[in-house]
Amino acid sequence: MMLSPVVFHSPVAIITKDEEEKARKIKMSEIIERYKDKVSTLPKQESWMNNHVYKYQGFWYHQGFWYHSNASFSVEAIMATQDDFKAKPTDVFLASHPKSGTTWLKALVFAIMTRTKFKSGFSSSSTHPLLTISPHDCVPFIETESFLNNPAYANGLMATHIPYNSLPESIVSSNCRIVYICRNPKDVFVSYWHFMNKVRDNASASIKLKDVFEMFSSGISPVGPFWDHVIGYRKASLERPDKVLFLNYEELQKDANNEVKKLAKFVGYPFTEEEEATGRVEELINLCSFEKLKEANKANKDGDETSNVLSNEFFFRKGKVGDSVNYLTTEMIQILDEITKEKYDGLDISF
Ligand code: A3P
Repeated sequence: MMLSPVVFHSPVAIITKDEEEKARKIKMSEIIERYKDKVSTLPKQESWMNNHVYKYQGFWYHQGFWYHSNASFSVEAIMATQDDFKAKPTDVFLASHPKSGTTWLKALVFAIMTRTKFKSGFSSSSTHPLLTISPHDCVPFIETESFLNNPAYANGLMATHIPYNSLPESIVSSNCRIVYICRNPKDVFVSYWHFMNKVRDNASASIKLKDVFEMFSSGISPVGPFWDHVIGYRKASLERPDKVLFLNYEELQKDANNEVKKLAKFVGYPFTEEEEATGRVEELINLCSFEKLKEANKANKDGDETSNVLSNEFFFRKGKVGDSVNYLTTEMIQILDEITKEKYDGLDISF
């Protein structure tokens, strides 16, 4: 059954970026204060960004204000999301470990769910939001935006990096649909390392790959252990296949047409025969291609080195499968392959 089309609430022009940042800082300060006692009891470890990560419900998180003054994805933000976030049964969540293709998935599902509203097609003269607005602004993360009354939040399409077992209770109890995207661990690690070097404070030294390799492989990385994140959602998808769809980045690259049709059906917006026959699936894939999104997000740089907001272009690096071989030693590859084989045993996770 086709659901009623998403009414696209634009995330822009309601409040300015400065106002948003101010509101974010105030809210995040309140949240950090609210959970400070709870956080002080958690195990902590040195982490990638010359700071600490805290172990909460089996996963590692930064503490608030880890990056400049941005407490997004911090352990306090996770706790607040668990306490405050109330899902509606019709909500759709896009879940992932960072660097697994979150941005791509956001663009694809957003384009799928809004395609009747943006009928004009995806040609160069199109006014489709994805040509000017970041997929991250179209589909907000619940652990960063739910505190801000982001109007895009009302669209019923949201994202999260929160591990399955730590999701706000209402997401699972309301039977919301969840799409999870996973990716080859070696490519995730290399992509994460590049990303962390981009977002790090300019004053701190660049992060050496070999220095963080051991941390990542022993499970210590923000929102890690990486493998446990994947396993939580994989098991959920096997137990509740009608509610949790498990996709992988590599398959999306290999057979985008099939995967996108599967995705559209799962989120309740299947392509009609006519749409398929008239090339709408291909148009949509093209709109969300790495090249198109990278280009659109170049002009759409909404942060700079003094800002708390990540630059949108950081989310587009190479967009290739297997690029990690250019960075990892044979020994590193062997170590990650062995961990992966052991951890994913019996779960039928391929990439
Ligand atoms: P690389 O660093 O390997 O290039 P996330 O969105 O979860 O942060 O993941 C970012 C990774 O997805 C980056 O990988 C990025 O280049 C890639 N990516 C972003 N948009 C993409 C797209 N439209 N198609 C394919 N890969 C994409």
